[in-house]
Amino acid sequence: MAALSASYNGLSDMPTTGERALAARLGFSFARDVPKAAAAVREVVCHLGLDQETPVRLLDVGAGLGAMTWGVLRALRGHGHAQTMEALWMDTDARALALGQAIVEHSGQTALQVRHLVQRVHAPAGRFHLVLMGQVLSELDRELEPNEDKRADRHADLLMGFVDLLTPDGALVVVEPALRDRTRHLHRVRDRLVTRGVPLFAPCLHDRGCPMLETRDDWCHEKLAVDLPSWLVPVARVAGLRYQGLTFSYAVFRRSAGKVGDRLGGAGKLRVVSDLLRTKGKREVLLCGDLEGRCLVRTTRLDRDGTLTNAAFETLSRGDLVRVEGATCGVHGVRIERTTLVERSVRESPGNLPQARGIGTATVRER
Ligand SMILES: C[S@@+](CC[C@H](N)C(=O)[O-])C[C@H]1O[C@@H](n2cnc3c(N)ncnc32)[C@H](O)[C@@H]1O
Repeated sequence: MAALSASYNGLSDMPTTGERALAARLGFSFARDVPKAAAAVREVVCHLGLDQETPVRLLDVGAGLGAMTWGVLRALRGHGHAQTMEALWMDTDARALALGQAIVEHSGQTALQVRHLVQRVHAPAGRFHLVLMGQVLSELDRELEPNEDKRADRHADLLMGFVDLLTPDGALVVVEPALRDRTRHLHRVRDRLVTRGVPLFAPCLHDRGCPMLETRDDWCHEKLAVDLPSWLVPVARVAGLRYQGLTFSYAVFRRSAGKVGDRLGGAGKLRVVSDLLRTKGKREVLLCGDLEGRCLVRTTRLDRDGTLTNAAFETLSRGDLVRVEGATCGVHGVRIERTTLVERSVRESPGNLPQARGIGTATVRER
């Protein structure tokens, strides 16, 4: 497992296909990746124009063992959608697909119907409510890595093909590991799609260029309080892998307009894109969105300025959506005053999602 993880991070030569890799994917990655997909789609599942009768049509690109599909099913069930899901899986690894199919059959989950295509990534025929690309985009065309722009152009073309397959309210969800290079590649592709006019639903609350790309080292990712199931913790310990918290990066594109932050209303909508940093006498956080014409802002509140109006600032964590009204904008950032309104939106939690029998169990820590 440790070798496979290192291989995905470019630190080992272990093949990511074959018997050993499949065993590690089945025994470890699968359970960790199901909640990732559930978390990545949680904001959009209520906006897909689904009724309770029509089967949900999903294209899972680079499906592997199907962890992303299970995550989507979990999110749908968590939001009250009980209908059948028809999934089309596409992957070059026939053995991974066969193992994924065996998991479906073993689960007894009759509401999930899977067909698969042993093929390289491409846009097939059909119309889909959801197209998922789970941890596969940044694995493609690695020979082009020295030419970041050319690679991003190529992947933007690829994603445009998937957007064309969506139903009018459908969504294309791209999930990537929360690693710097892999996530920055997603930021580059995101910028290209936005420039070409594809509506970006989440996570960004703005359509400007991603401010993380203005520096060499920054990147934006999610971090949720979802831990590995207890039975997997000893495996993670031995392999030296993390078992607390769930990290990933993602982007949700649609054909219709609208953003995840729309429910907040008004101006000053921002997303928390760093951890809350506590130092002597103050708390600081990076916010991304639109505040007085700025995109990425370091925002500070002195402890002595804490009031009921801005108390939500103390509870912020990465990924939260927040509205800030009446802050002071200076050269070095934004200051939360005693009278500044800080409103944190309740976010959809993967914790509300019921488990499919024995699949991807994960523990959600309460905040
Ligand atoms: C890291 S795994 C992710 C599996 C699954 N989506 C998940 O998130 O758990 C990447 C998958 O993409 C597949 N893959 C890699 N390159 C591909 C290509 N060019 N066309 C189709 N599948 C590809 C691999 O075989 C592998 O199953």
